[in-house]
Amino acid sequence: MDLKSLIRDIPDFPKPGILFRDITTLLRDRQGLRYTIDLFAEKCLEANFQIDYVLGMESRGFIFGTPLAYKLDAGFIPVRKKGKLPAAVHAIEYELEYGTDCLELHQDALNQDSRVLIVDDLIATGGTASATAKLVQQIGCELVGFGFIIELRDLQGRKLLPDVPIISLVEY
Ligand code: PRP
Ligand code: ADE
Ligand code: MG
Repeated sequence: MDLKSLIRDIPDFPKPGILFRDITTLLRDRQGLRYTIDLFAEKCLEANFQIDYVLGMESRGFIFGTPLAYKLDAGFIPVRKKGKLPAAVHAIEYELEYGTDCLELHQDALNQDSRVLIVDDLIATGGTASATAKLVQQIGCELVGFGFIIELRDLQGRKLLPDVPIISLVEY
């Protein structure tokens, strides 16, 4: 199946000069959704990831991370934007194109023996994924790899990531 044909391109969103890769059109297509999750899981199995948890970043990382965790027989752990998680958190600030943002993870969600896969819909500059990797590494548990549906190659986000396997299904 041609996943690119299900991803809609919206020029100049959310600001002039950005070509937004819209996954809502892929999600609403029942065959496309099933194919995407099945392929994602297949690639993780091929990579022989042995994981306890998938970590997904709010919000689009939740959409793909949870069904992937289900298929890999792993748990799912949400990494949320500031102030949303109710128990004690580890937090990390990270750079956006303008200013900074903050991601949080429950302190009791992981321990040093945990093996985790970080999942998001898309990697652009790599800021979001690398901040999440730092959170995981601060805890001292094992980061096994990264999984993305879409990789925007020109932005070279993978250069910011630690040296573990990176899976992406579609590249632009
Ligand atoms: C988008 C996307 C990734 C991130 C990638 O999330 O879902 O999480 O940007 O960009 P980066 O590699 O430059 O960090 P966004 O922050 O727009 O929020 P959303 O998932 O809630 O839509
Ligand atoms: N997040 C960061 N850059 C993006 C893009 N070009 N399309 C969709 N989501 C994004
Ligand atoms: Mg996101």
